[in-house]
Amino acid sequence: MASRILNRSSLLAATNAALKTSKVLKPTTIRSLSTYDKHKDVLEALGISKQNKGVFDGEWKGSGSVMQSINPVNNEVIAEVTTGSVQDMDTALDKVVEAQKIWREYTIPQRGQVLLAMRNALAANLQPLGKLVALEMGKILPEGVGEVQEYVDVLDYALGLSRSMSGSFIPSERPGHAMIETWNPLGVTGVISAFNFPVAVYGWNQAIAFVTGNGVIWKPSPTTPLCSLAITTLLEKVLREQNLPPSLCSLVTGGTEVGHKLVTDKRANLISFTGSTAVGKKVGITVQERFGKHILELGGNNAIIVTEDADIEMASRAILFAAVGTAGQRCTTARRLIVQESVYDKLVGKLKEAYKQVKVGDPLDQGILCGPLHTKSAVEAYEKALKDIKAQGGDILYGGAVIKDGELAKGNFVMPTLTSVTADMDVVKNEVFVPILHTMKYKTFDEAIHMNNNVAQGLSSSVFTSDPAKIFKWIGPAGSDCGIINVNIPTNGAEIGGAFGGEKETGGGRESGSDSWKQYCRRGTCTINYSGQLPLAQGINFG
Ligand code: UN1
Repeated sequence: MASRILNRSSLLAATNAALKTSKVLKPTTIRSLSTYDKHKDVLEALGISKQNKGVFDGEWKGSGSVMQSINPVNNEVIAEVTTGSVQDMDTALDKVVEAQKIWREYTIPQRGQVLLAMRNALAANLQPLGKLVALEMGKILPEGVGEVQEYVDVLDYALGLSRSMSGSFIPSERPGHAMIETWNPLGVTGVISAFNFPVAVYGWNQAIAFVTGNGVIWKPSPTTPLCSLAITTLLEKVLREQNLPPSLCSLVTGGTEVGHKLVTDKRANLISFTGSTAVGKKVGITVQERFGKHILELGGNNAIIVTEDADIEMASRAILFAAVGTAGQRCTTARRLIVQESVYDKLVGKLKEAYKQVKVGDPLDQGILCGPLHTKSAVEAYEKALKDIKAQGGDILYGGAVIKDGELAKGNFVMPTLTSVTADMDVVKNEVFVPILHTMKYKTFDEAIHMNNNVAQGLSSSVFTSDPAKIFKWIGPAGSDCGIINVNIPTNGAEIGGAFGGEKETGGGRESGSDSWKQYCRRGTCTINYSGQLPLAQGINFG
């Protein structure tokens, strides 16, 4: 990541050196910006220039270092962003706190109308935004568009909540007393999002934090700043049209320092963090130290179990999407395939055939199913994982190579890979964010469930079976210990209506659907005495 961040002085030095060698050179000609020029229409339509300001707190600015957004297809610079400093984060926090005082007074259905306007603005830009996601993150275009659709969907959902979010009326043991529960905004939600879902994960948090009356401040991944600029530009427009302070959806791009400032600052009442278990653990402890609230969505290492009674054809199609989709870079990607020994050869045979059909290439090209890895360091992680698999006695059944020939050699392309391993190997326990699927055999269903659960992470899981007894065991107390427990569908591609998140080292947080809105609120238990008497609870007589 450090290689992508140029600080201002090194940029100036490079510019000056270039200017000395040739009088006609201008700063923007010192490096290739052909990706920008190639996609100029889309980028310009979304308000992205070759050089951009990376902080929005009601106005666009940025006084931190210059960061480059890199095209994972060829490692060219797409555009540059002047990121935020710690001081910028400090100021933005003040601005969002002030703005939230206005926003919290809106009735919840009124808030819904603002969310509806945001939803319409995003839906009108679905295609260009989807293309930007594909360009900057590297996922294929249909998945890029799907990711923006996920944000549209959660805004729909939040609009629904604006007419249905309700508290309880609790029976009181005292006559003439009413006990009710209120759900008021926490204040400010800080969202720290990851590169792999540079739009949707912010969307889940923004939509739900917003309908519950919070202001939002976003620290996106340092490698996907352009997506955050495009989204914030659209939200700014809507907020201005609605006569609301646009700092309600503030943005501070940058690296670790600005993230640290956000996490340690008491003005951020809730921190929603998506990323690695190692960083998430630190975030959780830091936020807890100041008695803030947090939602953590960390590592996955998800498994699919295929039983002897499963529809093998359907399972193999689902596994392909689960393991190869997004080039294995979803939190929900299937990394472990646990197959009943009697159907192992048949299923793995089908998978090998399916893998052979997967076209690896430019995610914007039609027919491509597997784009590049997001960064060069992910390619290194892939290579290291291959070495580890072999060293531990695993076999590569398909793939197992970085693409080093032709046009694709310029980018971060790898072959989707199938391995044969046993459940006790270390490689099975550690999640590597690349398209490697470890296959292994089991004998009994109890053994399969144990294998599913016997890792530190607990995000998503799936079983393919036609046996109701196995289905109910799987979703019951002795079943999967993950937050997402699927049957006959892939581990990935969750709908926004369900709460999203996982157990154990996945962090325990839940975003998006179900009653996850409650996490963005402070709960009030209100007991109101209208009796004119003072009966005490538990029958106590006092004085
Ligand atoms: C993530 O990878 O962090 O379930 C989010 C899915 C998507 C969200 C993934 N709806 O795969």
